[in-house]
Amino acid sequence: MALVLRPWAFLLFLVLVSYDESGLQSRRNGVAQATQRVFLYPQSPKVSSIVSTKYRTAYHFQPPKNWINDPNGPMYYNGIYHQFYQYNPNGSLWGNIVWGHSVSTDLINWIRLEPAIERTIPSDINGCWTGSATILKGNRPAIIYTGADTEKRQVQNIVFPKNVSDPYLREWIKPDNNPLIQPIGQGLNSGQFRDPTTGWIGPDGLWRIAVGAELNGYSAALLYKSEDFVNWTRVDHSLYSSNASTMWECPDFFAVLPGNNSGLDLSAAIPNGAKHVLKMSLDNCDKYMVGVYDLKSDTFVPDTILDDRRLWSRIDYGNYYASKSFFDSKRGRRIIWGWTNETDSSLDDVAKGWAGIHAIPRTIWLDSNSKQLLQWPVEEVESLRSEEVSHQGLELKQGDLFDIKGIDTLQADVEIDFELTSIDSADPFDPSWLLDIEKHCREADASVHGGVGPFGLVVLASDNMEEHTSVHFRVYKSQEKYMVLMCSDLRKSSLRPELYTPAYGGFFEFDLEKESTISLRTLIDRSAVESFGGGGRLCIMARVYPVTLINGGTRMYAFNNGTSTVKVPQLKAWSMRRAQVNVKKG
Ligand SMILES: *[C@@H]1O[C@H](CO)[C@@H](O)[C@H](O)[C@H]1NC(C)=O
Ligand SMILES: *[C@@H]1O[C@H](CO)[C@@H](O)[C@H](O)[C@H]1NC(C)=O
Ligand SMILES: *[C@@H]1O[C@H](CO)[C@@H](O)[C@H](O)[C@H]1NC(C)=O
Ligand SMILES: *[C@@H]1O[C@H](CO)[C@@H](O)[C@H](O)[C@H]1NC(C)=O
Ligand SMILES: *[C@@H]1O[C@H](CO)[C@@H](O)[C@H](O)[C@H]1NC(C)=O
Ligand SMILES: *[C@@H]1O[C@H](CO)[C@@H](O)[C@H](O)[C@H]1NC(C)=O
Ligand SMILES: *[C@@H]1O[C@H](CO)[C@@H](O)[C@H](O)[C@H]1NC(C)=O
Repeated sequence: MALVLRPWAFLLFLVLVSYDESGLQSRRNGVAQATQRVFLYPQSPKVSSIVSTKYRTAYHFQPPKNWINDPNGPMYYNGIYHQFYQYNPNGSLWGNIVWGHSVSTDLINWIRLEPAIERTIPSDINGCWTGSATILKGNRPAIIYTGADTEKRQVQNIVFPKNVSDPYLREWIKPDNNPLIQPIGQGLNSGQFRDPTTGWIGPDGLWRIAVGAELNGYSAALLYKSEDFVNWTRVDHSLYSSNASTMWECPDFFAVLPGNNSGLDLSAAIPNGAKHVLKMSLDNCDKYMVGVYDLKSDTFVPDTILDDRRLWSRIDYGNYYASKSFFDSKRGRRIIWGWTNETDSSLDDVAKGWAGIHAIPRTIWLDSNSKQLLQWPVEEVESLRSEEVSHQGLELKQGDLFDIKGIDTLQADVEIDFELTSIDSADPFDPSWLLDIEKHCREADASVHGGVGPFGLVVLASDNMEEHTSVHFRVYKSQEKYMVLMCSDLRKSSLRPELYTPAYGGFFEFDLEKESTISLRTLIDRSAVESFGGGGRLCIMARVYPVTLINGGTRMYAFNNGTSTVKVPQLKAWSMRRAQVNVKKG
């Protein structure tokens, strides 16, 4: 979980403290500046208050108010999807964390329940943080989660449903043998030992879980074994460890079959040809490695090891962290969920009274190249589609803007196929861009004409384009292949100051022999813009707070600013209805 107080939260703390206590002279100077910066802008005539329900998302997961972060213990059990989440019942900044709990039958509409886990025992009295659910033999669910104990050491605890006949599994009980796992062992940092994975069964028939840790100053997914899921023994080697970083949060471990979008249940027999994926959260994003789970050594062996972690593949190249996946036995697929934070200031969050959403649940599987994960919004989200507009056979020349009208541009689902008419003019690819793709997205932005691209979508735009968010592609020629850059550029997303507005970006490979179109799907949900490029090869989640969203309508365009024309064989867009997200109490 992300439990570290962020610098901005600390700043806010100082602001609050300095109001009450006049003795804090030295701290005040720094604070006075910050307060000034924050409190001046609402007086600007152009910028309306951020405290508007119009910024609340209509179909992304969030509680009615307050702070949320990591998704926890997602599972499907007896006809019901469960979503737990790190939740502050008392405010819109991180703190007082409990496990919020919601249930659903379709992953889109959610009923809110009472918190499932709260700080009540010595081994979680200082925190009940992230963890995972496992369905044990005999169809019995269990959750192992991280607690901070009386000495603020991180330990692993277990809870079981009080009554498995309760369809919603409202109450969870903590057996007396908690904590199950303590941070014992040489080189193990007891303050960096958290976020246990879902369990799986190894070739010896024993259960395993992995726990994120700092071991001897390096990152590790520590491996534990158990016969009964309660009595755990640490294995003398890690599932995987790396000296490229010092700690991983929220490890996730799962099996996939290359080119097959069915999911695999990690605790069932894993078919031949399956690969394994280790996901870890670090550097404010979720990265992953594809490899094999070597049964002999009981370790994960990545197919490729890159020493420079800037080059590691990411689940999402935007605002997306602490994701967790689960096997959906109802539909035979693997689903992944991630947390997306606010990118306004923490004072804004206090004023709004809420902070944080979860990305749309995505089906996740491995491409037939065995290298790249593919992700796509679960098809249930399509049940929210209402008015549809559809265009065929468009052609976008350099400088063209195609106005997409007839739908609600604040709540929309857009699918566009871009067909390249010529690839000859593609500019050469420079591998050094991979080290800082955001920098390249800033330098080669939507107004910089390239050979092939930029082309894409402009969303949440004001009439005069003073505010707009652009999601676009550029195609580059590499040695034998083509590389597609996808950017989500937030730098003009809002006139509001004090926002975090990067130009997110990533690259994916493009095989000209097999494909001539590059697809883009974007889910627009008020302050969320969630994009899927190349059929789900590259995802970028973003948060934006345009002023025009409050003051009036917004516009949406398809565009091309590259010198070569691109065709749009198909463009479809839908208005999206509001989902019932935690508005009902169960
Ligand atoms: C929320 O605040 C109330 C009142 O201060 C307190 O009693 C309660 O324990 C807090 N809840 C949590 C989870 O910290
Ligand atoms: C367990 O839940 C079922 C279904 O809601 C209910 O009928 C039963 O009374 C519950 N048992 C206990 C001991 O609460
Ligand atoms: C826990 O498991 C270990 C290793 O299998 C075993 O030696 C030990 O006796 C077990 N402890 C209990 C209380 O069952
Ligand atoms: C870090 O790990 C790599 C293997 O992944 C190894 O080659 C290298 O020697 C290690 N470096 C240090 C400083 O331990
Ligand atoms: C995909 O995997 C599922 C589950 O293992 C299997 O039933 C199915 O036959 C596979 N499909 C293909 C096309 O291989
Ligand atoms: C949350 O938002 C801030 C910007 O306000 C950003 O710097 C940070 O990386 C984000 N993500 C996480 C996981 O905190
Ligand atoms: C296309 O390029 C022109 C000129 O460089 C720029 O003014 C315009 O804003 C660009 N279009 C988009 C959608 O960024």
